[in-house]
Amino acid sequence: MIVRLCAALRRLLIAPMLLSTAAHAADRPWENRALPASVRAGLVVGRMTLAEKLSLVHGGLGAPWGHEAKPPGAIGSAGYVPGVARLGVPPLQETDAELGVANPGGIRRGDAATAMPADLALASTWDLDLARRQGAAVGAEARARGFSVLLGGASNLIRDPHGGRNFEYFSEDPLLTGLMAGNAIAGVQSNRILATLKHFALNAQETDRVVLDARIDPAAARESDLLAFEIAIETGRPASVMCAYNQVDGAYSCENAWLLDRVLKRDWRYPGFVMSDWGAVHSTVRSVLAGLDQESGEQLDTANFLGAPLAQAVAAGAVPEARLDDMARRILGAMFASGLYDAPPRPAPVDVAASDRIALAIAREGIVLLANDGVLPLPADAGRLAVIGAHADRGVLSGGGSSQVVPRGGVAATEPSPDGDGALVFDPSSPLQAIRRQFPRARVAYDDGRDRARAARLAAGAATAIVFVDQWMTETRDARDLALPGAQDELVAAVAAANPRTIVVLETGGPVLMPWLGRVAAVLEAWYPGQKGGEAIAEILSGAVDPSGRLPVTFPVDAGQLAHPAPFGDPKAAPLGPVGRGGHYGAIFAADYGEGAMVGYKWFAANGERPLFPFGFGLSYASFSLRDLAVEVSGNDLRASVTVRNAGSRAAAAIPQVYVSGGAGAGVPLRLAGWRRIALQPGEERRATVSIDPRLLARFDEAADLWAIAGGAYRVTVGFDAAHPDLAAVANVEPSRLPP
Ligand code: BGC
Repeated sequence: MIVRLCAALRRLLIAPMLLSTAAHAADRPWENRALPASVRAGLVVGRMTLAEKLSLVHGGLGAPWGHEAKPPGAIGSAGYVPGVARLGVPPLQETDAELGVANPGGIRRGDAATAMPADLALASTWDLDLARRQGAAVGAEARARGFSVLLGGASNLIRDPHGGRNFEYFSEDPLLTGLMAGNAIAGVQSNRILATLKHFALNAQETDRVVLDARIDPAAARESDLLAFEIAIETGRPASVMCAYNQVDGAYSCENAWLLDRVLKRDWRYPGFVMSDWGAVHSTVRSVLAGLDQESGEQLDTANFLGAPLAQAVAAGAVPEARLDDMARRILGAMFASGLYDAPPRPAPVDVAASDRIALAIAREGIVLLANDGVLPLPADAGRLAVIGAHADRGVLSGGGSSQVVPRGGVAATEPSPDGDGALVFDPSSPLQAIRRQFPRARVAYDDGRDRARAARLAAGAATAIVFVDQWMTETRDARDLALPGAQDELVAAVAAANPRTIVVLETGGPVLMPWLGRVAAVLEAWYPGQKGGEAIAEILSGAVDPSGRLPVTFPVDAGQLAHPAPFGDPKAAPLGPVGRGGHYGAIFAADYGEGAMVGYKWFAANGERPLFPFGFGLSYASFSLRDLAVEVSGNDLRASVTVRNAGSRAAAAIPQVYVSGGAGAGVPLRLAGWRRIALQPGEERRATVSIDPRLLARFDEAADLWAIAGGAYRVTVGFDAAHPDLAAVANVEPSRLPP
């Protein structure tokens, strides 16, 4: 009886639901989830008025601006594009979230998020699964706040160690960058929200970024910066791509037909949409015909180019309505493909413990041990420890600019920025407290390092001195030089003179020079290690965690070894940012990237330069060996296998790296072709196999628009960094050509 009653009740409840779904299906056929995203998008576009289509292709800030209030409906963030409620199209709530959900100017009062380690730290893990988990965690935090678009997926190559945003980027290598960024993007989008690959392309420095014309041979760009983007797109399938501020070979990125229409949309068959960077649009017809699909943060442009002027251009026939339909279809297609349309985000609690675990895992795996004369790991009975400098009593440094996160737990310390127009933010993870917890039997004292003589006295009386030094980097500005700022080199030298057992912990946004290297006992590169960074540093000092990070960038001995010893333009000039309505930009100047694809370790190898620390390098408390390199060739598919052994006495992770070079004719330069991150018990060995992407054997032929494998003998090497091959083999490959 009860069963029958229940069944009747169910029928009563379900019948109207079925009716309404059927009604919906007739009214909104795009709600049929069985249809492909592009078909669903096309159905919506077919019902849209011209005004509705136009409303989708431009958006403003999601925050107050001048006398303008925050747009109605905006949560409060970098950007907001209203939806089309009549058709069920949700708004795009866009937030920066490269390293955690940002809260610009504290617009969402009291809203703090997990401050993840810098992308440089994430890249140093060489751990693709961790990149995916980082993206998933940040995406979950964004979704829980109601955000639907993450302006995260920064895949620029690190071309210049001075670059102000290098901490937001992954590496100097296209394969490492593309795979790490692609995995992070896939993680973000697993939350049924949109991620944004940025800044497309060649935004390799911050100085004068809005007036810089990056001149580069197009084929070289395809083999370097563009290859990183291409791999990230294949791996992560980002819903959107953000075009950059700078020009590329004479045309602004956001109106660059070669970049947007030919490379991205035609050669790579990219189905998503191109949104502009904030203040990076300079025209209407040119931009739209070149492939720009959406203008962002339009208050920062000199005019609302994709607003009224686009309506006029369509009315006048200068932009075909079919192109406007394509723009709208791409944006809507991204909403369907990601799942956003079917499940728009709603405020929800955040699993902060899960985020913390990932932040800690990245810091643990991403810290790189650069030098160690045997002082590390410190014994449990470490005696007196002197901890010095860089606010190590309070927290760890983070990078500045649009990716800045208001950290959960509150800002641990601030400092005025060197130019006095901002503030350094320290995330709440005190290395001092973590060291005290890690070494309960030690006597740990702290000195802020401002008085060198006093710090040296503390060090002299300690068994070991741990000196923290930092380099603040930020969007809109590059490092003026690669020295540690202020008098920190002198501080390290004074501490090391007082105590030869000095360990240096670097919190930097990229490579720095180390004039004191020969006088210290150990060096740890912690990057900006996020809000669990202090714990991870202490665990590595004690050996509770084995250091397994490996450098994703080359550290030069001095800037004279670089392709460009300083950024282009004048880093001392006031940063030139987006100018806003009615503003005007300065004169464009050419930055000649004559080194082409020879970025980072490739440049060092080709020029016979010895770096301070090579790409791929990092020490462990264990030691590893390699043997039996074998390369199988089948057509242009290469598979390299090697046996890796943990020859040490503790469990540790090895990261053997495979490189290729050579081939017929000019050949290809030294290129990272793959790697494995392998956890090994003491004495354990495993066979690691790497499949090599055929594009890494090829040069790009721009005239023929394809990858050309010259064939011949390629050298395949394996080692633990780019500069020291342990084993080498030769692979004979037939010539072949691959589509772009
Ligand atoms: C940055 C982007 C960022 C955007 C929105 C721009 O200045 O270059 O990376 O996503 O602002 O904040």
